[in-house]
Amino acid sequence: MKKLHVALVGLGFGGAFAPIYKEHPNVGKLTLFDTNPAVLKNTSDYIGGADCAGSFEEILSDPSVDAVHLVTPIPLHADQTVAVLEAGKHCACTVPMATSLEDIRRIVKAKRRSGKNYMMMETTLYTYQYFYAKRMKEAGEFGKIQFFRGSHYQDMAGWPDYWMGLPPFWYGTHAIGPMVGLSDSRICRVNCFGSGTMAEWMVRRYGNPYPVETAIFEFENGLKGEATRSLFETARLYQEGMHVLGSEKSFEWGFADWDAPIITTLGAPVDGRGRPTTAETVPMPNYYEDLPEELWHFTVGGNYDPLNPQDSLKMGAGAGHHGAHAHLVHEFVMSCVEERKPWIDEHLGGNITAAGICAHESALRNGEPVIVPKF
Ligand SMILES: NC(=O)c1ccc[n+]([C@@H]2O[C@H](COP(=O)([O-])OP(=O)(O)OC[C@H]3O[C@@H](n4cnc5c(N)ncnc54)[C@H](O)[C@@H]3O)[C@@H](O)[C@H]2O)c1
Repeated sequence: MKKLHVALVGLGFGGAFAPIYKEHPNVGKLTLFDTNPAVLKNTSDYIGGADCAGSFEEILSDPSVDAVHLVTPIPLHADQTVAVLEAGKHCACTVPMATSLEDIRRIVKAKRRSGKNYMMMETTLYTYQYFYAKRMKEAGEFGKIQFFRGSHYQDMAGWPDYWMGLPPFWYGTHAIGPMVGLSDSRICRVNCFGSGTMAEWMVRRYGNPYPVETAIFEFENGLKGEATRSLFETARLYQEGMHVLGSEKSFEWGFADWDAPIITTLGAPVDGRGRPTTAETVPMPNYYEDLPEELWHFTVGGNYDPLNPQDSLKMGAGAGHHGAHAHLVHEFVMSCVEERKPWIDEHLGGNITAAGICAHESALRNGEPVIVPKF
């Protein structure tokens, strides 16, 4: 069995991935790195010990490292991704891929030159909810998909400095990703408006006046999707929501991020006005079967019962962004082992990220349409 040497860099949120790599059967060695030595030591201790690098450059120059997963602050993503690819290693990076179109282009070029894999680690594309909606689509349950809606409401007060005043759609991937994933198409155009006001010191950092942005995305196949993103001074319970409206059934996220979704069904036509419409709240199953057994417990969090993965899911909200972390790790590792592209490659990741960058551009131009370039 082919085994990889993986380096995990940035261990705040990134720390959640350390035990998953450690237990993945196709990972032979895990190296950790964080510029904060205490965080590095704590993460290593937490997983019962791992190799710790002394610097990012040490990882780049180590020929035994096959793949690097970056979970570092947003402003570092593009430069570090290019550096990893140029060092001849596969690269996974947390979202967003970058915060400018030029940086996405640099990554795509570096990826092509290196011949290695690039994967954007978008959590929303591996949630219980996404898997469920994807199966509904494959089974034809939606009828025709007519419209998408995405949301990401989160209050970021007190988060690290680089978040303060961030243009909402520069981190729009959770609201945009699922609609692109389910569209069988790509976003080609966007109109977006910014709304509200926020503290002046936050406006100055990125020249972004808006705490909230709302956009209509157009897909190449003619479909449309609306997404709304809020980061500051907006009272809304946290939600990374995915909504799919079909001609026969629709899938809508619950009010809170952890609420079960609502499936609406149009009944058979009757005499009179309108078709009967029913809605039910559906608890999500856990899609763990495609993972190696060693990773099953990462899909459900602390209440894992190895004899009954489904029931243990029902005991809690589920681990790591609705079970996504283990699937992300598995897809990245297996794409490298099997020498194939990962699903969220530079084209899909580039479209999801660029759509958000262009949305903010449109908001700054008071809603003018902006063409999303193809990567
Ligand atoms: N659902 C998701 O996909 C999701 C959720 C949370 C965060 N994120 C992304 O993950 C990234 C990290 O988020 P966070 O909340 O942990 O951020 P953070 O800023 O709190 O932590 C980042 C970590 O990286 C370390 N670090 C900083 N510079 C470094 C460098 N040059 N080399 C190595 N390590 C370095 C810091 O010491 C810190 O431990 C962000 O880019 C964010 O966008 C994604």
